[in-house]
Amino acid sequence: MTGGNPRPKKAHVITFGCQMNVADSELLSGILREKGLDLIGSPDEADLIVVNTCTIRRKAEDKAYSQMGRLMKMKSRRGPVPLVAMAGCVAKKEGRDLLRRFPGLDIVLSPGRVPRVGDLLDRRLETGQAVVDIGDRPAGAVEASPVRKSEVKAFVNIMHGCDNHCAYCVVPAVRGPEVSRPPGDVLEEVTELADRGYGEVTLLGQNVNSYGKGLDEAIDFPGLLERLDKRSGMERLRFTTSHPKDFDSRLVGAIRDLPSVCEAVHLPVQAGSDRVLRAMNRKYGPGEYRDKVNLLREAVPGVRISTDIIVGYPGETEGDFTATWELVKETRFVSLFAFKFSPREGTAAARLEDDVPGAEKDRRLQAILDLQRGISREINEGMVGRVEEVLVEGPSKTDPGMMTGRTRGNQVVNMPGKQGLRGRLRPVEINGAGTHCLMGRFVGKAGEK
Ligand code: 5AD
Ligand code: SF4
Repeated sequence: MTGGNPRPKKAHVITFGCQMNVADSELLSGILREKGLDLIGSPDEADLIVVNTCTIRRKAEDKAYSQMGRLMKMKSRRGPVPLVAMAGCVAKKEGRDLLRRFPGLDIVLSPGRVPRVGDLLDRRLETGQAVVDIGDRPAGAVEASPVRKSEVKAFVNIMHGCDNHCAYCVVPAVRGPEVSRPPGDVLEEVTELADRGYGEVTLLGQNVNSYGKGLDEAIDFPGLLERLDKRSGMERLRFTTSHPKDFDSRLVGAIRDLPSVCEAVHLPVQAGSDRVLRAMNRKYGPGEYRDKVNLLREAVPGVRISTDIIVGYPGETEGDFTATWELVKETRFVSLFAFKFSPREGTAAARLEDDVPGAEKDRRLQAILDLQRGISREINEGMVGRVEEVLVEGPSKTDPGMMTGRTRGNQVVNMPGKQGLRGRLRPVEINGAGTHCLMGRFVGKAGEK
């Protein structure tokens, strides 16, 4: 008995949220393909739709719900087809309650249960009942996906969960405690990607600097980088995210000394006020943050540093905000993501009064974004005339006549022509700059077209 649903043949996966969700969606897609489903690019023809959701801020969660609302309408038009699965962080947070909110929902699965999506689908088809599984990731579960969004660069999880408990953040509640993957498994996955021709891997974790805790083997994150640099054959390694409290001279040394480790660090500062950082439970102050940035810049000249900022944290005064604004002005990040504080149920900050008015949050957000726009443009303009190593990713989405790629510093460059260079590392002369990307031309090897 299949509860009215024949075994689905075509699946469509919709992804919201961070790179971990992108990686989970790839794994989901890979498992579904191995079960014989075709992966298709639109929901209209699909008989299984998976929505991989994010709950980091209210807006992200609202997006997931409107998407689900649209799918439920479509489902009531099309009968029992398509099967709809809700995955990711909203699924973990809300669990079984989602079945009340969306009575047509077939499967609810947490990020930890992504490796089991095939079994959950079977269970749904066998029982005809909705299936809810919001458990944690089973130890040793499959991680490497045969399906990847890109043939040039890939995400590789090195750990799951987070033990930090920043006062505003829902991640520890939805992704569980920190668990590192054994280094041998990571090395195997990265080596396999290098053998398949991938040129770049981004190692993923909520706080990669604490990699290694709880493993049988004594290894830390710089140790993992060293092993991958020496043994995997991968040309470029990146990682995200680093927590400033654990960012230390050993990691700086690894970025400086290991040829494959790119000179780009995402180091979320969140705020520039000591008081606000303390209230956020970040465990560093603005002075310590500045010292670490200086240490990194001295050891690795030209390193590109990006960050995240939260404005309008409970109790953030005009003076606190000015401290953030000044830190951003001084540090000269290559880019940043800025967010308005959004209270998340179950976090310590949700118990505080959300006292910065909405219009004031908007103004602070805009002020940070305006400031950064000018800085990004200046940094980019300063690169005109330089030759940068670019990993060519393929035709640009906005202009198929152009190829697009990234520098080692993780800056996007668009270049005319040369389709055949996809996946290759090439020298590119920068000859134009915007706020978010660079323009360039291949100046590569003699005789190459
Ligand atoms: N409100 C606003 N921004 C948040 N972030 C995390 N939690 C919240 C929240 N409750 C931001 C942080 C983090 C990024 C991924 O999202 O800046 O670094
Ligand atoms: Fe990623 Fe956090 Fe959003 Fe979950 S809640 S998808 S971990 S950003």
